[in-house]
Amino acid sequence: MERNSQITDSLSLNEPHAPVYPLIASQITNKFQIMKGVAIEVGSGPASLSIAMARITELKIYAMDISPEMYKIAGKNIAKCGFKDRILPMLADVHQMPFPDNYAHLIFSRGSMFFWKDLASALKKIYAVLKPGGASYIGGGFGNKTTKKLVKKTFKNQEENYESPPKIDIATLEIAVQKAEINNYQLLDDESGLWVLFEKSIE
Ligand SMILES: C[S@@+](CC[C@H](N)C(=O)[O-])C[C@H]1O[C@@H](n2cnc3c(N)ncnc32)[C@H](O)[C@@H]1O
Repeated sequence: MERNSQITDSLSLNEPHAPVYPLIASQITNKFQIMKGVAIEVGSGPASLSIAMARITELKIYAMDISPEMYKIAGKNIAKCGFKDRILPMLADVHQMPFPDNYAHLIFSRGSMFFWKDLASALKKIYAVLKPGGASYIGGGFGNKTTKKLVKKTFKNQEENYESPPKIDIATLEIAVQKAEINNYQLLDDESGLWVLFEKSIE
């Protein structure tokens, strides 16, 4: 994905999205209560959400992204925040995630699904990599209205334009989830954003 250096620099400082990550991290942990084990963040960008998750859990996290530039920035941010022992940056495409099936306790992703070439096959791959009993929190958004306003205000104050990702609507997301043969799912389309939450049952 093309990004200009100004956006890359602001992402590397976790600005202006900074308030979004602790909020979404708490929404993920409140929902699933998965505090230990292996997690994967898909399309982690600068790893801000992985870092927020590491702060409130004991998870070992793979911060995975397709972009070599983001991989480098994530590595720097992880080291700067003191999580080198628990967050591992990884360069990979969600469609071919290099993990065995039934591997991760938690897979989360914010703001990345909008860019995936084949949403259904990416979700199917995520579901395969999930451990039975594991859960996924995939989508995009700001967490709530207050953080959304705050982020947009910060962009405005910095005289930058907020770049919205390409849009996916809830119907398109649901079709992809069903095509991926995921049955136990919940869709959210509210002030937190557009998300699909699913669990893999223990057979
Ligand atoms: C809008 S950014 C979101 C970054 C981060 N999750 C956040 O919330 O700050 C989307 C990220 O998804 C990554 N991405 C796009 N397509 C991907 C794919 N097929 N596999 C893995 N990562 C991908 C991009 O490189 C980019 O870093």
